[in-house]
Amino acid sequence: MGEKVIQYFEKSAQDYLKNSQSFFWSFFRKRELQTIDFLLSPNSKMSLLDLGSGAGFYSIFFKNKYRINVLGVDSSPAMVEQLKLNGIEYVLDSIENFVSSEKFDLVLAAGVMEFVDNPEKVFRNILASIAPNGRLVILVPRSGIGGRMYKIHHKLKKCPVQIRSAETYKRIASHLGFNFSKIFYPTPISCAICFTISNLNEFKTIHGE
Ligand SMILES: C[S@@+](CC[C@H](N)C(=O)[O-])C[C@H]1O[C@@H](n2cnc3c(N)ncnc32)[C@H](O)[C@@H]1O
Repeated sequence: MGEKVIQYFEKSAQDYLKNSQSFFWSFFRKRELQTIDFLLSPNSKMSLLDLGSGAGFYSIFFKNKYRINVLGVDSSPAMVEQLKLNGIEYVLDSIENFVSSEKFDLVLAAGVMEFVDNPEKVFRNILASIAPNGRLVILVPRSGIGGRMYKIHHKLKKCPVQIRSAETYKRIASHLGFNFSKIFYPTPISCAICFTISNLNEFKTIHGE
């Protein structure tokens, strides 16, 4: 999946932020942003790891609104170039490999889990990168008609997408020790799932249970 996904996002990187403000997308984007803001509930003392950050739509918003430290991670060189232009710290890497040495209070994976082959690997990496009592929010396509349309849209552009149900994500995450907290459906095509972490989970990361 990796190479085709990177190729797809390399092409769209330059206009990614501008397109988010287009008449059609801005409605979806605003609603998703409000939901993620509510679920993450940052304050100025917190830090945010933005996985699959793209050109920085969320990174820029949270950095400006709450003055928090933000690190964006993305596998597309053209996307991280946009992060750089917008003054966001970044790492060029796949979220299936990336583990942070610093622990983050908040982790966001918006619009990226559907592009990874192995979501369990990503959840494990998050567990190793998140602070005790941290919060994770993932934004994923809804299964059903919304997800099918999303998949067709990407298939036409030769970008592979895996639509998984919210239950699947909840099951994988819970198995690793994340605590499911809330689920919201900000738009007909997306759902936002919030997990919390308890100290006990560090044990599971270390022992790989
Ligand atoms: C739909 S965009 C979302 C970007 C951003 N989160 C937003 O909402 O504006 C998906 C992003 O995930 C990145 N991506 C896809 N697969 C990835 C992976 N395995 N590791 C890191 N980034 C990935 C793409 O390069 C792209 O920038």
